[in-house]
Amino acid sequence: MKIIDTAGALQEWRKSLSKEKTVGLVPTMGALHLGHASLLETSARENDFTIATIFVNPTQFNQTSDFEKYPKTWEADLAMCEKYGADVIFAPKTAEELYPDHFHYRVSEHQFSNELCGEFRPGHFEGVLTVVLKLLNLAKADCAYFGEKDHQQLTLLSGMAKAFFLETKIVPCPTVRESSGLAMSSRNLRLNPAEKEIAPRLFHVISTIQDLIQAKEELVRLGFRVEYLVDRIENNHRRRYVAAWLGDVRLIDNVEL
Ligand code: PAF
Repeated sequence: MKIIDTAGALQEWRKSLSKEKTVGLVPTMGALHLGHASLLETSARENDFTIATIFVNPTQFNQTSDFEKYPKTWEADLAMCEKYGADVIFAPKTAEELYPDHFHYRVSEHQFSNELCGEFRPGHFEGVLTVVLKLLNLAKADCAYFGEKDHQQLTLLSGMAKAFFLETKIVPCPTVRESSGLAMSSRNLRLNPAEKEIAPRLFHVISTIQDLIQAKEELVRLGFRVEYLVDRIENNHRRRYVAAWLGDVRLIDNVEL
């Protein structure tokens, strides 16, 4: 497994591959868990080469404290990438490596990105779309893999790929859950033991209590601070989205009803 830390070196590596080889991209911010493992495994199965990117992208954090507290588990991440089939890790050492323009150029979306997470995290999706476009351009991947846990992100990335005629296929991958039902997330590492006990109830409540008001009341009773709990009709299906805080950890989840 090769570790690359500059944009130029990644482009060189990509150019060195023969034309018929396929490349899968798994963008991450590190603190890898079994959800990422399933993205890596899928990419490794479907492509000749898999690139995992590890970069805690500053432009998608709207609170400096959240950015600073983002878990960093470099050694374990390397072991996970190796185990689940990554051939290359792209891990820029500085933000300047990906933002030589100091974020003067940005990708924005003017509808769905202002709803749900976007309403509470202004600018978040601008940071996500911009960094993913940069990664897709550097990797020239055939496919890029994203988890359905971040369903809004996945929808916006698919929309961007379509709007800009990108040649990379955005591949949705099912949410991986702990046996308790809790969606795997890097932020789970920050839950204390008591919060870890309560956290799985989030998925249980949103998938079993149909009425939105009752579901919200139950979450509050359990100790969550609910940011939003919303049902949306998408392609003739009803999807329920939630973001809720346990202590200072923000959890998100969604389920097709
Ligand atoms: O889902 C994430 O971890 C991030 O939003 C992503 C897609 C790696 C962009 O920084």
